[in-house]
Amino acid sequence: MMERQRNYIYPDKESLVGAFLCEVQKFLERVGEAGKPVNIAISGGSTPLALFEILADRTRSEDWSLVHIFWVDERCVPPEHPESNYGNASRALFEVLEIHNGQIHRVMGENDPAKETLRYANLLKKRLPSDRGFPVFDWIWLGLGSDGHTASIFPHQIELWNAESSCVLASHPDSGQKRISLSGGVINAAKRVSFLATGEEKSLVIKRILMKEENYLDYPAFYVNPGSDYLEWYLDQEAANLL
Ligand code: 6PG
Repeated sequence: MMERQRNYIYPDKESLVGAFLCEVQKFLERVGEAGKPVNIAISGGSTPLALFEILADRTRSEDWSLVHIFWVDERCVPPEHPESNYGNASRALFEVLEIHNGQIHRVMGENDPAKETLRYANLLKKRLPSDRGFPVFDWIWLGLGSDGHTASIFPHQIELWNAESSCVLASHPDSGQKRISLSGGVINAAKRVSFLATGEEKSLVIKRILMKEENYLDYPAFYVNPGSDYLEWYLDQEAANLL
């Protein structure tokens, strides 16, 4: 186990999401006390969605007043498409809490992918502080695919992790669906990075990544290594059962 990591294991997805909710509530409280805007980037997928639903229920609109929300990655589909990460987060959280659109900075999946990749990179450059050429997020929430992908950087395009740009245009290995994703440089420039991973199907890739076994070097998620050293894995028992 890499010494720099914090791994938190919970009996099930519900208790994991409940624990992460507490972390978010503490974060929001600190942000309120400091009184300065912060920038977070959120992922798509089913695990984050469960989190958005409990956040909608257990936090208030005013808690988020200083938080600017961006995306780790987005499918190149319009917001109303069921696979839109923004659309799903909006329906589960932003619309419920009526979080102001001025704080929501979505990737415009309906735009030309190459142009939108550039637009989003420029938006990040304009709005976020930077470190060694990469925009710095206060907190990034990541998911993990059973193939070791994170964000929308998949093993077959692992070279995108080391892109010099902050945003890359990727494609899903099976569907070919185009996706716009943060690159590894941005993820590793963040002050805090948290993985949320649940389910038996993730257990083997998690073991290989955390124990540096077998073909772990093939997995983009292995390269998440923030310079801040603030890296957390929130796992349920099923996902952690090979550790
Ligand atoms: C996406 C995500 C992706 C996701 C993982 C895990 O747009 O799909 O950003 O990285 O977080 O695939 O998804 P699940 O939590 O649904 O397994």
